[in-house]
Amino acid sequence: KSFHVVAVVGSLRKDSYNRALLKEAIRAAPEGVTIDVFDQLADMPFFNQDQEDIETPAAALAFKEAIRKADGMLVVTPEYNSGLPAVLKNAIDWASRGTPSVFKNLAVGIMGTSPGALGTSKVQQQLKQSLSGLGAYPLAAPDFVLPLYKSQFDDEMKLNDPKTVTRITKYLDRLRELGLCLNAIRPKL
Ligand code: FNR
Repeated sequence: KSFHVVAVVGSLRKDSYNRALLKEAIRAAPEGVTIDVFDQLADMPFFNQDQEDIETPAAALAFKEAIRKADGMLVVTPEYNSGLPAVLKNAIDWASRGTPSVFKNLAVGIMGTSPGALGTSKVQQQLKQSLSGLGAYPLAAPDFVLPLYKSQFDDEMKLNDPKTVTRITKYLDRLRELGLCLNAIRPKL
């Protein structure tokens, strides 16, 4: 049976480097790991508990369902002002609702790329904190950051360095390892 990952990108822009990184992750996925992109983050209004009481938006329900059905999650995100892009945090807030949460005991991989030297390391810490608070298990190590993105991608937005591709494959293997352990204790939702 294959290990099924639901993936989201924290950037909405068309030429996003982080989206390009996710595409490369899909190509680099180890045998038996499949990645499906959930692409409706922008369809969720700002989280509002009043609205939640009336009707949860369709995109938020779809996100929860995609997480519920997946064996693990992959978040590929840029860093905005040393933290989380609002659209990503908003989606997490919507999907976090319910008891138990779909995030409980969920394995989550985090990847990101940036033009600077730290390669999204600060947003990754913030994301780990949020996810841990939800009872999810962000992969503790290794971290996957890709700094200095201008030198990492070619004109077709493919990765230049085969070692980076290998690093992605290994990272996704670790995510699967963690996810397979955790799936035994995920709530049956
Ligand atoms: C940024 N950028 C950025 N980069 C970074 O490494 N640390 C940061 O704190 C920030 N802050 C920040 C804030 C805002 C509002 C924007 C729009 C951008 C630069 C960012 O990494 C760059 O725009 C990336 O290209 C965004 O990722 P995508 O869209 O290419 O995936």
